[in-house]
Amino acid sequence: MPEQDRLETVVALTKRRGFIFPAAELYGGFRSAYDFGPLGVLLLRKIRDEWWRFMVRERPEVVGLEASILTPRAIWEASGHLEHFADPLVDCRSCKERWRADQIDGVCPRCGSRDLTPVRAFNLMFRTQVGPVEGEGAEAYLRPETAQGMFVDAAGVARAMRLRPPFGIAQIGKSFRNEITPGNFVFRTREFEQMEMEFFVHPDAADKAHDFWIEERMRWYDALGLTGAWLRLREHDRDELSHYASRTVDIEFRFPWGYGELEGIANRTDFDLRAHARAAREDLSFLDPETNERFYPYTIEPAGGVTRAAMAFLLAAFDVDEVNGEQRTVLRLSPRLAPYTAAVLPLARKPELTSLARRVFDELATIVDVDYDETQSIGRRYRRQDEIGTPWCVTVDFESLDDAAVTIRDRDTLQQERVAISDVATKIAERLEAAPRARARALTFHQR
Ligand code: GAP
Repeated sequence: MPEQDRLETVVALTKRRGFIFPAAELYGGFRSAYDFGPLGVLLLRKIRDEWWRFMVRERPEVVGLEASILTPRAIWEASGHLEHFADPLVDCRSCKERWRADQIDGVCPRCGSRDLTPVRAFNLMFRTQVGPVEGEGAEAYLRPETAQGMFVDAAGVARAMRLRPPFGIAQIGKSFRNEITPGNFVFRTREFEQMEMEFFVHPDAADKAHDFWIEERMRWYDALGLTGAWLRLREHDRDELSHYASRTVDIEFRFPWGYGELEGIANRTDFDLRAHARAAREDLSFLDPETNERFYPYTIEPAGGVTRAAMAFLLAAFDVDEVNGEQRTVLRLSPRLAPYTAAVLPLARKPELTSLARRVFDELATIVDVDYDETQSIGRRYRRQDEIGTPWCVTVDFESLDDAAVTIRDRDTLQQERVAISDVATKIAERLEAAPRARARALTFHQR
């Protein structure tokens, strides 16, 4: 399938099947904003859970944080975002469209005019005000990255949790950027969700820590299905580095329009901690108990997008094959990410079958997300589950009434296994546990 068709087909599928809807469609839509429907919610939740397990739960040196989205001006003044977090903007004088100057070649892509305004810096942060009184103290911003919460709270977190470098603070949450040209579905939106970790390490160990996190993050995506040519690493050129970074390596995904950033892994040096220390007049350095040296740690930051990752997983999972001479659409999502781990399907809508099926549903629902469907032919129900990526369908048939067993059908191999109802939850749990995932590696470098 041509790449552009893949994108359109996947976008249509996600809308039809309740993953992602254009926002405010009832009112004609709201440009480049999206609502995540019932299946999208489950997918996002699984991405977050897998990230959290790998980045936080399996690492004694990493802890979590949920910082405020509404933030005072002082934070962004210190972090350099007020000054630097801007894109170059031009207006087309003919058709009035606005563009990012670095994405066009001196010609308006819409009307072809070369009559463009001079380039000016457009700050991407959303500004608002808190409270009923206008004025400087009321000025607030929606955070454009979750990261600053970790820097501002670093000393407090370290004290409370008795941590010393190397340690990490992780956060998943919404961020907001007034992007000039949002687009390509949920690839670039103005409201999106990030999963970021700030890893504080002695400056002497920063390069090793950077390489370590690049490998860790690649292993995470690979195990969840983004294998082989779906991903590549790309080193930032000097002139594209963010104002805070000394080196950044992007994990890029092969989107239908070419490779694009999925996650950035940056060495932010001691830029942020020192900036906040200066601005807030606080000592945010750490003590090395062995040398008695006070030092500002460097920060290695793996920063990914939850919503952008959802799009990548959906694109990579989309497949069309043939079953019994008929085309079927199938999402080959990792069982760890599939919205529903299992679906319970009574063969017919007869009370004796549906009541037994409901019992099977109740059993499975204690361990995983389960769908229940009793409408239309069993063949059509299998297709519907394939299309949303459900790895295992559990069919309750008339024999089940006699042998107290059900059939588990596998989405990919199409093989069917008969199992006792009393074992079905254990069997599904075992299959899920057997699905690949990356385990956190212990730190492979020393402090210095
Ligand atoms: N704290 C560093 C930071 O925010 P970034 O490369 O600007 O770095 C990290 O963002 C990740 O957040 C990106 O790799 C991408 O996955 C996601 N992201 C950034 N801007 C986005 C947008 N407008 N829409 C969707 N996802 C976005």
